[in-house]
Amino acid sequence: MTMHSNKRESEATFDETLSFQEATRIRRSIRGFLDKPVPDSVIREVLKDAQYAPSNCNTQPWNTHIVRGEKLKQLSQLLHGKNDAGEFSPDFSFDQNDFYGEYRKRNDALGKAYYEAMNVMREDKEGRRRVGAMNYSFFNAPQAAFLFMPSFGDNVRVAGDMGMYGQTFLLSLAARGLGGIPQTALGFFAGTIREFLGIPEELKLLFGISFGYVDEAAPGNRIYMDRVPVDTSVTFHV
Ligand SMILES: Cc1cc2nc3c(=O)[nH]c(=O)nc-3n(C[C@H](O)[C@H](O)[C@H](O)COP(=O)(O)O)c2cc1C
Repeated sequence: MTMHSNKRESEATFDETLSFQEATRIRRSIRGFLDKPVPDSVIREVLKDAQYAPSNCNTQPWNTHIVRGEKLKQLSQLLHGKNDAGEFSPDFSFDQNDFYGEYRKRNDALGKAYYEAMNVMREDKEGRRRVGAMNYSFFNAPQAAFLFMPSFGDNVRVAGDMGMYGQTFLLSLAARGLGGIPQTALGFFAGTIREFLGIPEELKLLFGISFGYVDEAAPGNRIYMDRVPVDTSVTFHV
């Protein structure tokens, strides 16, 4: 294979990881982790991979906070309390009622797969609440990343950059046999998390990523979301 010239190659130490295509296609959202911390050295490699994400005008706006151990347990308790009390403090709005047409149908398909996997009936409000609250136990992951960003203009470009960073992070985990889940649900408590971690007000929380070793037996990992065919999403123009 010929590689185009890349100055960064000289500083790269490549590990044994899955191929690009394997990692991309094997990645899925993991909602059940083993109680086994990921070694520091591995977390650092994942963070280094994510650092290579592109960004508008090279701003590299990601400010990532990794929380582990006792600190994560304390945060989990705090978030469960706030969630039970309905004390939300989001930096960005989010309303699933905004979805329409095909987008709503795809969201419904996720809900159906999710609640079926968790053995919760659609009309079981308490069951759905309990399943949703698993976000605040970080799906049992012993570590989570919180993706904070500065606010520029209407924030759309920055959010795009953060998405690129987040996906690179997730693909790096997948390539190493690890799992992760991006969680907008963590962003619902941005103010609480910012205060708990002592992060300045100017940084906003878009989402978090719980990550770690996959618990293959966890019910939350029985969810496999399909994709619509390429030609549904893509139009070729000649
Ligand atoms: C930015 C972002 C935020 C998400 N937030 C949540 C969340 O809060 N809780 C959750 O269970 N899943 C969350 N998801 C996961 C999506 O439900 C999932 O990506 C989608 O259903 C496709 O499934 P897959 O990731 O397994 O391919 C989020 C995904 C993204 C990209």
